[in-house]
Amino acid sequence: MPFGLPPPTDEPQLTYGGYLKVGELISLQHLLSDPPQHDEMLFIVIHQVYELWFKELLHELDAIIARLDADEPLAAHRLVRRCIEIEQVLVNQIAVLETMMPTDFLEFRDHLMPASGFQSFQFRELEYVSGLKDARFLKNYEPGSKERAKLEVRLAQPTLADAFYALLGRRGFDLPDVSGAADEVRAAIEQRRINELVRVYQDAEKHYALFLLAESLIEYDEMFSMWRLRHINMVERMIGSKTGTGGSEGAAYLRKTVDRKFFPELWELRSHLSKKSVSK
Ligand code: HEM
Repeated sequence: MPFGLPPPTDEPQLTYGGYLKVGELISLQHLLSDPPQHDEMLFIVIHQVYELWFKELLHELDAIIARLDADEPLAAHRLVRRCIEIEQVLVNQIAVLETMMPTDFLEFRDHLMPASGFQSFQFRELEYVSGLKDARFLKNYEPGSKERAKLEVRLAQPTLADAFYALLGRRGFDLPDVSGAADEVRAAIEQRRINELVRVYQDAEKHYALFLLAESLIEYDEMFSMWRLRHINMVERMIGSKTGTGGSEGAAYLRKTVDRKFFPELWELRSHLSKKSVSK
């Protein structure tokens, strides 16, 4: 039925707008500027689009952890590849926001205080579930609020990194369960992880599914860093060295976040690789 609506029936028919709740979706953009500033619409839409992608990423990450727990590294790998494609979109759409002139942003920026992307609870959920659990962010959310409760659940759950190393452990690599391990033990565990990952990489053919999975995970991590870097450049282009609407030092604060990694061992192992596998 490409050129017309279905014939009328007494039964209510599913429609595009009804299924996707388009009416609700496009009624959710409320500008604060008065008179309305043209670019505030773009600013709102782009943030909302990010939040929708964050929701989708969390949905995928939960599925990836379930695949890892079910010993399905290739199924997990396929979904990590999907997350990487989504991250590409997240990085690239910053360019759309950069079509806004700094002076146009200033026309409505004061209305935004003290709100900030820093408060995005889904962004923190993404960090937590991927492997970066910093409980200090909890204090930014009201005790008892839905956001805080979600983050508390994420803090208590095994991360993507935990699920990956648990799978390696079940595949015969020498990796004990480290959940809840004390800090001094963790350093030794990280070294053991690196040693075992070196075995995977030195004989990638033999451990091909695990190798593919590991490579997709480092790419997921890398793309997240790319977003952080891209966001910083855009922030500097937009507000220079001004403080953020959330009250931080602005770009100077953001620069301190770029070294945060979900899989530090996957990065470190490369320093320990030698030319050829000797273990075949
Ligand atoms: C004009 C555009 C933007 C500017 C000037 C800007 C500026 C900033 C600044 C200065 C911070 C530091 C916290 C603060 O003091 O507010 C920040 C944090 C953050 N922003 Fe943006 N931002 C922009 C767009 C976006 C967009 C489109 C997103 C997408 C969701 C975003 C997500 C975030 C996140 C998640 C943080 C916290 C990062 C972290 O703590 O690691 N921002 N932003």
